[in-house]
Amino acid sequence: MAQLNVNIDHIATIRQARMTNEPDPVWAAAECELGGALGITMHLREDRRHIQDRDVQLVRQTAAVKLNLEMSLAEPIVRFALKLKPDQITLVPERRQELTTEGGLDCIKQQKRLAAVVKRMRRAGIVVSAFIIPDIDQVTACRDAGCDAIELHTGMYANARTERQIALRIRDLQKARDAAWDAGLTVHAGHGLTYRNIQPIAALEGIEDFNIGHSIIARAVFVGIRQATQQMINLIEKYSQL
Ligand code: PXP
Repeated sequence: MAQLNVNIDHIATIRQARMTNEPDPVWAAAECELGGALGITMHLREDRRHIQDRDVQLVRQTAAVKLNLEMSLAEPIVRFALKLKPDQITLVPERRQELTTEGGLDCIKQQKRLAAVVKRMRRAGIVVSAFIIPDIDQVTACRDAGCDAIELHTGMYANARTERQIALRIRDLQKARDAAWDAGLTVHAGHGLTYRNIQPIAALEGIEDFNIGHSIIARAVFVGIRQATQQMINLIEKYSQL
């Protein structure tokens, strides 16, 4: 059964809107855990626009579930991660002007740099995943760089509007998943997944982790984080049994 890691960045987004100390992402992580999440995902961006160093440090100390740190390949962040020792990192591209992570990491173009970071992380016992668009050459580059896992970018699926486009994007995800299996890589998925569009993705075989943020935090405004987490887990469990 796939596991849910809740991305709690947007709890910090609300806090940073007022540069104050509430709501606290550390409380959010505990609530996600009480809701049944098996992991917490946090993106420590170079611009620190939402999550701050102390948030990740405190969640590392207090959460009993997996901590998945999303991060770029930038050296200061790499050093931070090596010191923090999260259970897992997910390498993502970062651009200052973007609203959220936009594309996947170009693991073909950056393979050398990626391989060097992977080596340092694995030496520290940290599992390495790379966030990529569903493309077979990207999967191969991740394997060659020594990654343990890939996270398939589901944003193109989430943005597809016609039945045909949706079917094509699911096909792309299936092909990339198959290539990852052949390469011996663990498969994760995330970005743009919601309560309304999770069904066909949850039904895909072999995805071990879902990283979902915005939709859960948006629902949490109305029902609370614990219940929002439970509701997403219920959907993943329901559809993965189809
Ligand atoms: N996975 C990765 C690699 C991401 O960068 C993000 C966004 O921070 C997510 C998953 C979660 O996306 P969303 O907030 O759309 O659920």
